[in-house]
Amino acid sequence: MGISSSGTMAASCVTTILLLGIRAVVALQHEEEFFFGDFPPDFMWGIATGSYQIEGAWNEDGKGPSIWDTFSHEGKNYNNDTGDVACDSYHKWEEDVANLKRLGVKHYRFSISWPRVLPDGTTAQVNQKGIEYYNNLINAVRGAGIKPMVVLYHWDLPQALQDAGGWLNESIVDRFNDYARFCFKTFGDRVPFWVTFIEPWSIIWLGYGNGIFAPGIQSPAEDPYIAGHNMILSHVQAFHTYKNEFYGKFKGKVGITADLQWKFPKTQAPRDQEAAERAAQFKLGWFLNPIYGSGDYPDVMKERVANKSKAQGYTKSRLPPFTADQIRMNKGSGDFVGINHYSSQLISDHPLPLFPPSYESDQDLLISLDPKWKGLVPGDWLKSVPVGIRKLLNWVKSQYNNPLVYITENGVDDPTGELDDQFRVGYIRNYTNEVLKAIRLDSCNVKGYTVWTLMDDFEWSSGYRIKFGLHYVNFSDPSRPRTPKASSKFYASLIRNNGYDSTTTTVVG
Ligand SMILES: *[C@@H]1O[C@H](CO)[C@@H](O)[C@H](O)[C@H]1NC(C)=O
Ligand SMILES: *[C@@H]1O[C@H](CO)[C@@H](O)[C@H](O)[C@H]1NC(C)=O
Ligand SMILES: *[C@@H]1O[C@H](CO)[C@@H](O)[C@H](O)[C@H]1NC(C)=O
Ligand SMILES: *[C@@H]1O[C@H](CO)[C@@H](O)[C@H](O)[C@H]1NC(C)=O
Ligand SMILES: *[C@@H]1O[C@H](CO)[C@@H](O)[C@H](O)[C@H]1NC(C)=O
Repeated sequence: MGISSSGTMAASCVTTILLLGIRAVVALQHEEEFFFGDFPPDFMWGIATGSYQIEGAWNEDGKGPSIWDTFSHEGKNYNNDTGDVACDSYHKWEEDVANLKRLGVKHYRFSISWPRVLPDGTTAQVNQKGIEYYNNLINAVRGAGIKPMVVLYHWDLPQALQDAGGWLNESIVDRFNDYARFCFKTFGDRVPFWVTFIEPWSIIWLGYGNGIFAPGIQSPAEDPYIAGHNMILSHVQAFHTYKNEFYGKFKGKVGITADLQWKFPKTQAPRDQEAAERAAQFKLGWFLNPIYGSGDYPDVMKERVANKSKAQGYTKSRLPPFTADQIRMNKGSGDFVGINHYSSQLISDHPLPLFPPSYESDQDLLISLDPKWKGLVPGDWLKSVPVGIRKLLNWVKSQYNNPLVYITENGVDDPTGELDDQFRVGYIRNYTNEVLKAIRLDSCNVKGYTVWTLMDDFEWSSGYRIKFGLHYVNFSDPSRPRTPKASSKFYASLIRNNGYDSTTTTVVG
């Protein structure tokens, strides 16, 4: 397959110019058309899962409880659903690997359950059975010719650490570093990609701000900023531990994955454009600017939270400051940017009351959706807006000097788990085509793409109500059989073709 001739020449067609926080938007090349061409030859196609969402065996073989075991057992999820059994991948991992092989993926992104290997979160006690499980999985994945992309933290914090304050206790930085070092040492000889955290925003805001995720704390004024601060410092320390103690032997890459729904200004008015930029900085910039940008929080966050805090009677900003030393350590502490992206939003500028103080009201904006955007789950946030991923990739490129990017999640849910999932096929086709445009037309340094998710699973507070899988799982059947959906065949052929050739691709779907 030939690369479109316009491919490499278009780098100078800058799509987004940042000017005083206002985006002057220039139309993207080929914005409306399907783009034929192939991905770079070494492009990494992958698929992702999360430990608590698939493993089950919540109390088997010496595993300690996690905050999601606790939260689920308190009946906090849709239908009182829990991850007690989930897809039973603790026992069915060989079948999972066979499905990965059939898809032909180049990498498998999965997570280690911290309390499965370190039951109380500390290295005082190591669970050999848990180590054996991940050794078997990693070896089988590699045996299938697939690279493991291993996530250290996909939300299942050991309950024992939550009992000591969780991400609000700054000693978590050392606990996480001990855990990370333990994993690097135990598995690192076979792992080329490490992701420290998946979606810090979700962990922090949903866990400590509005409380809809474990640990269910509702404390929107200060705790999200404190927990986020400790999480960034945890990433940074673990990154340096890898660089100093393991990189020489293992040569792996370490990054963090942040998530953003692309923020379109609701109108072209400058104040809405500024609000959209602010929204991106408060969500993605919060975590990426310290690590891949200046080493510190985005200016707009620092100024606004400081101003609001003062007006609210706080003696200092609710956003903790980094020291000069920390800023130096933060800066550049990632080998790649992991991006999770699913959908888009419309943002309008909207002054919010000073009280009650909150991370949300600090932003002074309103979020809405365009009724024209299509999705399958009524009332759901996830609409198909393919161009959003290209805009986001261009934003990351311009913000952080065109870093190496792996898209670590992208996918769409439906309420049924239907096998002939043509909407998902169209979604993946359209989104990957926008990724292709970002690479070929905009010269974004994107080296991989990862579908969420291998199979229908436990989707956090939505339980089993929504289905994202390329395989259907029958959760009424104790043996949890997996059945490939149409999307799995489509994805396998996309990987085989490594892109879109005008002679073999059907465009409309
Ligand atoms: C969830 O569990 C609670 C407490 O055990 C019970 O009252 C409620 O009916 C359950 N809800 C569902 C949907 O099963
Ligand atoms: C913070 O964690 C340490 C142990 O790592 C513990 O000794 C201390 O009591 C914790 N602080 C709080 C407030 O829970
Ligand atoms: C913060 O307050 C100062 C002084 O009142 C003002 O000059 C500045 O514009 C404010 N910044 C923001 C981002 O609101
Ligand atoms: C994908 O793009 C095609 C062509 O624009 C469109 O007809 C289809 O609705 C889109 N599907 C999704 C899920 O975005
Ligand atoms: C799911 O499994 C149950 C129990 O084995 C079975 O009765 C049902 O027909 C299965 N559903 C589907 C869609 O395969």
